[in-house]
Amino acid sequence: MSTPPKGKLPLPELAEMKRRGEKIVMVTAYDAPGARFAEDAGIDVILVGDTAAMVVLGHEGTTVPVTMDEMLFLTRTVARAARRPIVIGDMPFGSFQVSDEKAVENAIRFVKEAGADAVKLEGAGPSVSRVRSIVEAGIPVMGHVGLTPQSATILGGFKTQGKTAVKARLLVDGALELEQAGAFAVVLEAVPTPVAAEITRRLTVPTIGIGAGRECDGQVLVYHDLLGLTEGHLPRFVKRYANLSREIRDALEHYADEVRSGIFPEDEHTYEMTDEELERFSSSSPRATSHKNQAKATATRPSKIPSPSPESEPPLRKTSPP
Ligand code: KIV
Repeated sequence: MSTPPKGKLPLPELAEMKRRGEKIVMVTAYDAPGARFAEDAGIDVILVGDTAAMVVLGHEGTTVPVTMDEMLFLTRTVARAARRPIVIGDMPFGSFQVSDEKAVENAIRFVKEAGADAVKLEGAGPSVSRVRSIVEAGIPVMGHVGLTPQSATILGGFKTQGKTAVKARLLVDGALELEQAGAFAVVLEAVPTPVAAEITRRLTVPTIGIGAGRECDGQVLVYHDLLGLTEGHLPRFVKRYANLSREIRDALEHYADEVRSGIFPEDEHTYEMTDEELERFSSSSPRATSHKNQAKATATRPSKIPSPSPESEPPLRKTSPP
C-alpha cells in the first residue's frame, strides 16, 4: 500500500508497543463524530466493526446481515474523520468465505473505496489462507479468534470459547497460524484469561482482547456498549463508562415537552429583521399571481439565488467542530 498519511500512527508501532509493554487501546466506531471522539481521546485503533449490524443497523443478535456496501459506507465516514488512529474495516460475513480471490477483492474495496488502513476478518482454519492472500496483496490484516460472531450458530451461540484443554490448544494454534500468515494483530474474544495470556506470550504480534483478560496487549470494546447506548442484556466483558441512552432519552423527552408547551424555541433561537424591513414587509401586500404567471416567473428566475454577503449574515452552522 502507499505511504500512510502524515500524522497516522504507523502500523509497526503496534508491535513496538507490545515490546515496550504499552497497552494498545482500540474501540469501534461507525460514524464521523465517533471517530473524532476516539481520536481526541487518544485511541490508537478504530475498528469499524460488523457489530454495526446490531448497534447501528438494528439487526437483533446477529452480525451476519450487514453487507459490504453498508460496511464500506460506515468505514468511509470513519476514515474521513480519523487522522491518527489506525482505521480497520471489518470484513462482513460473505465477503471473504468464498475464496482467497474474493477476499482480496473485497479487502481492496475497503482500502480503495472506504479509506481503511487495514481490514479484520474472523476465524482461523480456512481464514488463514485468506489472511495470507490479502497480506500478499499489500493490505494489513487483523485476525480474530475465540468467539467469532459470524459463526455463532456453529459455535452454539455467543459463548466463551476454549474452555477445555483441547479447544484451548486449537485456539493457540489458530492464533499462531494467523501470525505466520502475516496478521499484524489478533483479536481474542471471550476466551479464558489463561488461554489469552498463553496466546499473548506466544505471539510476537499484539493480541487485542475483548472478554479475554488483562494480559492481552490491548483491549477493544464496542462504542455503544462502553458508552451505555446499548440497552438490554450486555455481555459480562463490557464495562460501561457512561449511560448515554438515559441522557438521550431525557433530552428527547425534554425537547418534546418544550415544543408541545411552546417553551421552545425561545428568542435566542430565532432570527430578527431590521425594523425598517419589517415595516416594509408588513405594509406590502402579497402579489396575486396566477398559476400561469407563477410558471413564467419560475422559468425566468436565475438558477442560483445569491446568498447574503458574509458581513451581513453570520453562518448558521460552524463548518468545523469547536
Ligand atoms: O465487530 C466488532 O465490533 C468486533 C469487535 C467486538 C472485536 O469484531
